[in-house]
Amino acid sequence: MKNIDVVLGAFYGDEGKGKVIDYLSTNVDYTVRFAGGDNAGHSIEVNGVKFAFHLLPSGILNKNCKAVIGNGVVINPKILFNEINDLISHGYSADNLYISDKAHVIFPYHVELDGALEASRGSRKIGTTKRGIGPAYCDKYERSGIRISDFISDNFLTLLKENVESSNAKLKQNGFQSLDYESIAKEYSEYAERIKPYVCDTTTLLHQALKENKKILCEGAQAALLDIDFGSYPYVTSSNTTIGGVFTGTGMAPKYLNDIYGVIKAYSSKVGEGPFVTELDGELASTIRELGHEYGVTTKRPRRVGWLDLVAINYSAMINGYTAFALNHLDTLGKLDEIKVCVGYEYKGQISTEFHADMDYLYNAKPVYKTFKGHFGDISKCRTFEELPINARKYIEEIEQFTGVPVKFIGVGPGREEIIVRS
Ligand code: GDP
Ligand code: IMO
Ligand code: MG
Repeated sequence: MKNIDVVLGAFYGDEGKGKVIDYLSTNVDYTVRFAGGDNAGHSIEVNGVKFAFHLLPSGILNKNCKAVIGNGVVINPKILFNEINDLISHGYSADNLYISDKAHVIFPYHVELDGALEASRGSRKIGTTKRGIGPAYCDKYERSGIRISDFISDNFLTLLKENVESSNAKLKQNGFQSLDYESIAKEYSEYAERIKPYVCDTTTLLHQALKENKKILCEGAQAALLDIDFGSYPYVTSSNTTIGGVFTGTGMAPKYLNDIYGVIKAYSSKVGEGPFVTELDGELASTIRELGHEYGVTTKRPRRVGWLDLVAINYSAMINGYTAFALNHLDTLGKLDEIKVCVGYEYKGQISTEFHADMDYLYNAKPVYKTFKGHFGDISKCRTFEELPINARKYIEEIEQFTGVPVKFIGVGPGREEIIVRS
């Protein structure tokens, strides 16, 4: 049974994955986060109320849907419980939440080290979210990390002491202050007690669900160009955000895979440092940033913006094998008079449609654009492709032609219902 669908970010993140997951979760039994941590910020707007999920799977608003945080995720319990409290204050519950015993825990020393490492990089900083993601994955792969199963075991404080001591040594090396073991032990022992009811072997849980023919939706965090292997290294996050991460981050097998949806914006955005071939500056950039409210959900940083880059999107489609796209912010793009889309890169005098995640290439490639007419008018009430104005349809058809991937979902506003679904 091919019962797993996947939603993945196709560019540099913040493409509107949360909104697409929220829409799709009404028809599934499980939504599953498989990678990343609270560096993610997924927004959902329901009846004018805005939710921003960093760790909780975006399907959690649907009470018939079980929400799973898989083994590939790094979990900051403090952020998790803030989110759960917020959910409860809005009349929802987290009774449908399941957390993997194999996921790793983010502690204050990871967050502190993230800041210290960024400071030590100087002008070569990555522009991380400073949520401790890199240091937590470092501990995981160095095999000194504390897993959720350790966190709720009698061995927790012994492991914590060793980890605080070794992290303090690293902090000192970078000229940062040491952290106090006792206060971390006290605060985190309370979180450990509170997290216990949610913890289980989520791999077995998901396999049981597959046996019972249940539908599962996997929620990507970050995006293809931030992937540790396939992104614009070193300006990436510390996990596999592409399709392979689904399997290592949940323990489910590829044979169950059905649809793979790549989420794109009708223009582009990026936060943090690193190359961005189609980046805009000046007045046009400010206009798009304000029209699209392009400020980070996690860090509140103004997002860098640019034109849609089909060369990069094609690369991410090659790696992830999208069966369809969800295209968001068509309403925002349609407010401009003239629209451009990148259909090639010029590098050392040659024009190519190939993307290479190579710094020299990406910093020196010049975008080759195709120009389209804008002025779509108010499309927020459109619910079919045919209702869209001709200029909007032409733009979408260009994306489909260039990539060979159909655009199935079209976002015409931030609200839950502001979406066109093509059969
Ligand atoms: P994610 O990280 O991929 O889930 O995306 P974010 O939530 O970080 O950023 C997407 C932003 O775009 C959020 O503010 C959404 O509410 C908003 N958004 C999503 N789809 C649309 C759309 O079709 N039109 C408009 N105007 N806003 C959208
Ligand atoms: P969602 O899921 C956009 C970026 C950071 C930085 C780089 C490394 O909301 O799309 P990290 O803290 O992970 O070590 O930072 O990755 N980044 C994101 N950019 N959306 C995200 O998540 C991101 N998560 C991380 O800005 O450039
Ligand atoms: Mg986001």
